[in-house]
Formats: sequence, C-alpha cells, structure tokens
Amino acid sequence: MDQKLYVFDTTLRDGEQVPGCQLNTIEKIELAKMLESMKVDIIECGFPVSSPGDFKSIVEISKIVTESTICALTRAVEKDIDVAADALHFARRPRIHTGIGTSDYHIRYKFNSNREDILRRAVAAVKYARKYVDDVEFYAEDAGRTENEYLARVIEAVIDAGATVVNIPDTTGYCLPAEYGAKIRYLVDNVPNIDKAVISTHCHNDLGMATANTISGVLNGARQVEVTINGVGERAGNTAMEEVVMAVKCRKDIPVYTDIVTKMFNKASHSVSTLMRMPVQPNKAIVGRNAFAHSSGIHQDGVLKNRESYEIIDPMDVGVNDSTIELTARSGRAALKHHFQRLGIEMSKEELDASYQKFLQLADVKKEINDSDLLMLAGVTQDKIAQKIRLKYLQVVCGKNSVPMATVKLVIDGEECTATSGGNGPIDAAFQAVRSLVHRKITLEEFLVQAITRGTDDVGKVHIQIENKGNIYYGFSANTDIVTASVEAYVNAISKII
Ligand code: KIV
Ligand code: ZN
Repeated sequence: MDQKLYVFDTTLRDGEQVPGCQLNTIEKIELAKMLESMKVDIIECGFPVSSPGDFKSIVEISKIVTESTICALTRAVEKDIDVAADALHFARRPRIHTGIGTSDYHIRYKFNSNREDILRRAVAAVKYARKYVDDVEFYAEDAGRTENEYLARVIEAVIDAGATVVNIPDTTGYCLPAEYGAKIRYLVDNVPNIDKAVISTHCHNDLGMATANTISGVLNGARQVEVTINGVGERAGNTAMEEVVMAVKCRKDIPVYTDIVTKMFNKASHSVSTLMRMPVQPNKAIVGRNAFAHSSGIHQDGVLKNRESYEIIDPMDVGVNDSTIELTARSGRAALKHHFQRLGIEMSKEELDASYQKFLQLADVKKEINDSDLLMLAGVTQDKIAQKIRLKYLQVVCGKNSVPMATVKLVIDGEECTATSGGNGPIDAAFQAVRSLVHRKITLEEFLVQAITRGTDDVGKVHIQIENKGNIYYGFSANTDIVTASVEAYVNAISKII
C-alpha cells in the first residue's frame, strides 16, 4: 500500500522572499485559500518576526484557513518563537518551524560557534516551541552540506526534544540526487528514534536538481516535501510542487500518493505568476505555455492518432483543456487538417494538399501561424477578417487623483460604435468599454505585458488570453503606448471569437 506524502507549500514564505515578488495580506489570503482548496497539507505563511506585514498575514490566514495546517518560520531564538506563537493564535492546526544552520560553514562563519553549542541551541528551540504547540518542525539549515554523522546526532536530539517533523534542507542547492537520497537513507538507518518524526525534503534549484533531489529523498524515506507553485523562490528557486506531485502521480514506482487536486495546477500557476509578477517560462514542466504543445510533424501526427504516443500526462489532469498542436514549418498535413477542422473548415484531400504547400511557404517566413493566417490560406481574405472588428479610436483619462475613464471606438462588420466606461485603471476602463460593444461573455485568463528593452521609450508587448464558452483565444499587440497595446491585443483576441 502506498504511503501518504505530505505536501508543505512555502510559496508564501520562501517563495515570497524573491525581490519584487512581495505579496500584501489580501494577496496572501487569496493564495492561501487557493492552496487550501488544492488540499495542500501544510501552508507556510511567513516569518512573523521579520515584519509586521508577515505577522498580520499569518494572523488573518489563520482565521480563514481551517483545513490545512498553518506554519510560521522562526530562528532558534525565543523571541522569534514567542512572536510565531502569537501570530498563530487563531490557527486551528498551528505548526512552528524552527531551526538553525548545522553545516560547518554556518557554524563557523554565521554563528562563530561550535557543533556542541549549535546542538544545544537546536534542542532548546524545539523544547521552547513545544510549550506553545504540539506540532513542531525542526530545520537543519544547509543540511545538504552538513556531515551526515553530526546531522544524525542533531536530528536524534531534536526528536527527543519533541520535534514531530525534521526538515533536511539543501539550502544552497548543492547536492546531487544520489547524494541527497543517501543523506535521507543515512538518517533513516542511523537515527534510532526516526520513526517518531516525519522526514521532510526542502531542495533549492541552484543546479537545476531540486525536483530530482526531492524525488530521491522520497524514494529513500522522506514523507513530506517542501515546495512552491512554479518553483518560485530565492535565486534559482525552490522545488516546484506541480513537478513533484505529477511525478508521483505518473510514476507507479514511487510508493507514495498525495491528496493534491492536480486539476488546479494550471490556475494556481497563473495566479502565482500574476500576483508575484513573475512570468512562467514557456517550456516549464507541467505549467509552461508549451508544456503540452507539439510542433514537429512526426509528434503531431502521433499525438493526433493517440495522445499517449508523445504525452505522459493528460493535460486535463493539470487543468489544461487540451494539448496544443503548434503550426510551424515543421508541421505536417495532419496538424494543418486538425486546425482547419477546429475552425470549422472541411477540405478535400486535393484542397488540403494545395493549402499545405501555401502553408509551408508562409511558415518559412513567419514563425507562428495563427488563425487569421489559416483562414487566409483557406480562401478567406485578410481584408474580410480585418473588417470584422478593429480598434479605430481610443482615449483614456487617468492619473493621480482622477477617475480612470476610457472612450473606445470599434469598427465591427464595417459599422462604427463607441462606448465610454470607468474602471479601476485605464486598461480596466477600456476593456469594459470594449466588452459593452461586443456583447459577449469574455473572461480574461492571462494578461502579460513585457518590455523589449529597458528604456522608458520601450515598446511594450502584450499577450492576452481570453475565455468564451469554454474556448481560449489568444491576442497580441506591441506599441510604445502600453494602454493602446493592451486594448489592441484584447480586440485581437476577441476578433478570433467573432
Ligand atoms: O532553504 C532553507 O534552508 C530554508 C529553511 C529556513 C527552512 O528555507
Ligand atoms: Zn529554503
């Protein structure tokens, strides 16, 4: 029988330490509620002694989240533990996560101390935390570079002192998978009271090994994994939750299961990326835009015949509606036919052959073939498409102390129509005006603005994804005026529905 693997999310603590990614209390509550509905077992919400903001977030999350355990980080310092206990006052399932550096680097250079003193401080911190809560996790910071024999002594002592979970962080992301797995195995085999605690992994990604190290830890006896959504975190980040959970789900030879609702991964990834203002790389495993996009002809043909030829995960399992068959110069007839059918265009074999030759010529000069290109190839002229809907005029009023307003003029099927709306900013106001003119239920799924260079005169590229009747439509525009680029991208996406 597979054993349960506890999922400990630290997006709101280790993940949030990234410069520029800080979250306010409202945003933290939103993410904590989402993590709870994903059935994350433990949510680490912050380091309460570090700032009043972190303290307040833990208090508020503790009042709202009741199913997941709420965890607060401390150093092995009484004041930190007092503040953490205070912040966790309302938590239904509180956990204090305390610890100290155990590698010789930390002992000598950070603490100017010695092994015996560090061991004593570790034990004292755990005993002190146990006065407040029953659930105390101990972390041996830089365990990845801590000598195993000493690490085992510390772990035995903190379990005796009352630690219920022992965290073995590879703080610097230095370990290789076999080495990290052997470290966990060493603790399983050499700590006499190890059965009284759960061993946790906490791997950083400096050498790109975080997921591999975590899985290696699990294969060697760890039963809790510390992870973040999208792998966000300091430097190269933490271990990505979606990667570990899907590896466990896919690989029957990893003898554990998690309770995570994997269908929420795609949505969770978008929320974290948006709130932390951190785009996800397109080729990111599980949640990247290209994670289920096939572009070579051989792969496309294989996937269209049977998905499992080239896919180990059903995209639906992670909340992605379908695999994407990309159209590039390497695509075959099967992919082209698939896209024509998606647009409602049926073709005879001869017509498809003729379109395919035109398609190859176009794909050689254009990196990405979009729906308007396909319609053009199928005989609908670009003019007709452009006439369907276009932005003719846009004026916005915004700035400090003024109410944002936008006036938008669209040309829809040759007819001009105008609307004015307010909003919580110029883009929101303009989008509302556009929606009032197109009379369709449109949900904004993704909105990404990127600068090409770094100057204030830069061109802003805007990528948008909208949802209408369960279908996703993509829009793009670039302009030195990012409000105009945003509205153009929005209209571009809507034109695909119309
Ligand atoms: O990476 C690390 O060692 C940590 C600990 C504070 C748990 O984040
Ligand atoms: Zn960490």
